Amino acid sequence: MERKDVGILAMDIYFPPTCVQQEALEAHDGASKGKYTIGLGQDCMAFCSEVEDVISMSLTVVTSLLKKYKIDPKLIGRLEVGSETVIDKSKSIKTWLMQIFEESGNTDIEGVDSSNACYGGTAALLNCVNWVESNSWDGRYGLVVCTDSAVYAEGPARPTGGAAAIAMLIGPNAPISFESKYRASHMAHVYDFYKPDLASEYPVVDGKLSQTCYLMALDSCYRQFSNKYEKLTGKQFSISDAEYFVFHSPYNKLVQKSFARLYYNDFLRNCSSVDDDAKAKLQPFSNLTGDESYQSRDLEKASQQVAKNLYDIKVQPSTLLPKQIGNMYTASLYAALASVLFNKHDSLVGQRIVMFSYGSGLTSTMFSLRLNNGEGPFSLSNIASVLDVTEKLQSRHEALPEKFVETLKLMEHRYGAKDFETSKETSLLPPGTFYLTKVDSMYRRFYEQKPADETIFSKVKCCNGVANGH
Ligand code: ACO
Repeated sequence: MERKDVGILAMDIYFPPTCVQQEALEAHDGASKGKYTIGLGQDCMAFCSEVEDVISMSLTVVTSLLKKYKIDPKLIGRLEVGSETVIDKSKSIKTWLMQIFEESGNTDIEGVDSSNACYGGTAALLNCVNWVESNSWDGRYGLVVCTDSAVYAEGPARPTGGAAAIAMLIGPNAPISFESKYRASHMAHVYDFYKPDLASEYPVVDGKLSQTCYLMALDSCYRQFSNKYEKLTGKQFSISDAEYFVFHSPYNKLVQKSFARLYYNDFLRNCSSVDDDAKAKLQPFSNLTGDESYQSRDLEKASQQVAKNLYDIKVQPSTLLPKQIGNMYTASLYAALASVLFNKHDSLVGQRIVMFSYGSGLTSTMFSLRLNNGEGPFSLSNIASVLDVTEKLQSRHEALPEKFVETLKLMEHRYGAKDFETSKETSLLPPGTFYLTKVDSMYRRFYEQKPADETIFSKVKCCNGVANGH
C-alpha cells in the first residue's frame, strides 16, 4: 500500500462559545493592569459552561470533522484521544466516541486514551502516524482527538486556563506530512504540575518550576533534534531551516521566551541564523552555565529583543487561537498549528514547521512537518476554510468574570458527582453541538446534540443504549 507523506489530512477545532476577557479578569482579580494581557500575553480565555465538558466537546468536533470532510465513519481504523481532564479513571473518552462509529456498524477501531498533562495529544498523534507507517496498517484513516478543559484554583494560575477540542484525520498523501526522521524527545521525572487530588479537577502547580522545566526540555529537544538533522543531512540545523516554529502555549509570554531560547541556542552553536549585531548583544551571556541561563533576566530580555523580528515572522502567525482561547492543554499545540494554517494557508507549500510539545511531569517532543499541496477536501485552503477561525471567534459570548467564577464554583461541586441534571441551556451553543444533560445515580453521563441543519449523525445513543431525542 502506498504510504508517502503520512500526516494530517484534515483538521477541525471546537471551543466553547463562552469566554472571559483577560483585561476584565485582571480588574476583577485585583491584579495590576497589564499583568494578564502584557505580562502573560493573553487576550481572552474560553471556558466550558455547565453543559459542556471534554466528552461533549470531542463528540462535537469528531461529528463536525466527519461531516465537513464527508468521511464515511467506516473508513476510520484507529482512534486515539489525548486528554488530561479525568472524568473516569477507567472508561476512556475514546469509548464515548465509539457511539458515532457503532451507528455505521464500525466497531473495528484500535486505540484508547493517552494522558500525561498537555502531551497526551502528541502521544495520540504519534501513535496514529506510526500505525499508518507500520505493517499493522489496514489502509484506513487514523483519527486523533485532543480535548481538555484547563481550569485552575483561584490564584495566579487561574488566568492561564482555557478549553477546546481538536480532531485530526491521519493518512498518507497528507498536506501536512511528518518528516519522521527529525524527531527528538526529552522525558524526565519532576513535580512541576500534577493532579494527585482525585477529588479535584484542579492541578497542583509549581508555576516557576514549570516554566524552567519547559525551557530545559525545549533546549534538550532542540539540541537532539539538531544533532539528528545534522547526522542525516550533513548540514547544521538552525532556526533558518524552518519557516514556522509552533510551541505548546500555556500562555503567550512563554512562547516568546521559548523562541528567544532557540535563538540563544543558535548563538551558542555559532549558527549563521544569528547576525553580528545579535552576536554582540548575546556575547555577555556566552559563558553562563545552563542553570544560570534559566535564571538570568538580562539574558531573557536580550534574547527576546534580538529574536523579535524573526518571532514576528516565524511564530506570531501561530499565536492567534492560543491568545484568544488560553491554554487548551493537549489541544494547545494543535490550535497553534491551526492558527498557522488559517493565517498562512496560501503560502505554505514546500515549507517546514517545527513543533514543540510539552507536558508537565515531564514529557516533551520536537518534530517536523512538511507542507504539501494536498488534494480535494484535503487541501490547505479547504482545511483553513473548515477551521473557520474568524467566524468561530467572532460569534463568542463574552461573560463577566463573576459569571466565570460562579461557573467554576458550580463545576467544583459537580466534579465527580452523581445524580444531577444540568440546566440544558443551549442558546449559546452552535447548531450540532453536543451537551451534557444529566449524570444518573450510577455516574452514567447523558448527552444530547443541539439539532444541526442537516446533521447526518443526529442520533447518537447514550450510555444505556437508548437513542437521544431531537
Ligand atoms: N504589566 C505588565 N507585565 C506584568 C505586570 C503588569 N502590570 N505584572 C506582572 N507582569 C509580568 C511579570 O513581570 C511576568 O513577566 P516575566 O515572565 O517576563 O517576568 C509576568 O507578568 C507574569 O508575572 P508573575 O508575577 O511571574 O506571575 P505569577 O507568578 O503570578 O504567575 C505563572 C505566572 C507562574 C505562569 C502562573 O500563571 C501559573 O502558575 N500558571 C500555570 C502553570 C503554567 O502554565 N506553566 C507553564 C508550563 S506547564 C503547562 O503547560 C501547564
